[in-house]
Amino acid sequence: MTLLNQIKENAKKHCKKIVLPEATEERTLQAADILIEENIAQIILTGNPDEIKKEAERLNLKNIDKATIIDPVNHPKKEEYIDLMVEIRKNKGLTREAAAKLVENPLYLATVMIKNGDADGEVAGAENATGDVLRPAFQYVKTKPGFSVVSGAFIMILKDKQFGEEGLMVFADCAVHPNPTDKELAEIAVATGETTKAIAGFEPRIAMLSFSTKGSAKHEMVDKIVSATQIAKEMNPSLKIDGELQADAAIIEAIGQKKAPDSDIAGKANVLVFPTLETGNIAYKLVQRMAGAEAIGPVLQGMAAPINDLSRGCSVSDIVNLVAITANQAAVEK
Ligand code: ACO
Repeated sequence: MTLLNQIKENAKKHCKKIVLPEATEERTLQAADILIEENIAQIILTGNPDEIKKEAERLNLKNIDKATIIDPVNHPKKEEYIDLMVEIRKNKGLTREAAAKLVENPLYLATVMIKNGDADGEVAGAENATGDVLRPAFQYVKTKPGFSVVSGAFIMILKDKQFGEEGLMVFADCAVHPNPTDKELAEIAVATGETTKAIAGFEPRIAMLSFSTKGSAKHEMVDKIVSATQIAKEMNPSLKIDGELQADAAIIEAIGQKKAPDSDIAGKANVLVFPTLETGNIAYKLVQRMAGAEAIGPVLQGMAAPINDLSRGCSVSDIVNLVAITANQAAVEK
């Protein structure tokens, strides 16, 4: 069975409640129809019920009447959600009037539903930019205990099975946090280890990447990776992690043995943690395009509940897959 099929089968076992705030967007509605048909998740759609039903009819979708539809402007929990928003953002000076407006924005509503326990996760981004999806998530769902940053991992399915876990690798952060400190990079490593177990389904061997291997270069950027590796070990002593390692020393056995003979990760890494967002984002796109790898993600990690962001160029099956991944994350969180 392929990894994505395993992820879907596992999602079916848990049937988590996933909210789709872009419910009148054509691909999202088509994906919702498939998700309901295949029982991958319980689907909550937020938006004007008449518009959603009209659009479902136009698209000839048969299952949308089985979704829970929440009208952001008029629903029984509106006042409760406004209270919750004011409570969460009272230190930021959020007024009731401002919250009453925000709660009608489906992207905010979805996060407050999660916070209130009415949904287990969210997928959005087919029509909204990354920042607009993530900001409400950062502000209302926030990071999980012990974490201060959200980051994004990609599961890379490589054609060449000699790398990683028979061709499977996990790369992070490729999507969210531009310039992490050593402490934040350690959190990203720990979170990526958890994502690897929960979604990619294998035991992580994490390489903290740099342009230096075990002191071959001296620079403050190298010091940051050494420190991040140490902090990650303290955060989770059972984590199999090593750094700083160059990419070739991390993934090629012969080079790993030569450059870092005492390392139990060098040459065997199946998870790569990049020093910055630009290195991670550039690397995953190059591997995807030049090595023909399939890139699944970004899977957002470090958040108190799973919220995932689509690319605006996504297909219906991308949405179905990301909802299945989100449902798996929700199953692990519980
Ligand atoms: N983790 C957790 N919380 C965060 C994070 C983070 N990584 N970044 C910001 N926040 C919180 C802040 O603490 C703040 O909370 P507060 O309001 O309670 O104080 C809130 O989010 C807003 O913070 P800002 O600094 O104002 O963040 P902004 O909204 O400007 O930007 C964003 C956040 C949009 C995610 C920004 O970091 C960003 O643009 N990242 C890059 C995203 C991107 O373009 N990725 C590449 C493309 S994706 C791809 O190719 C797959």
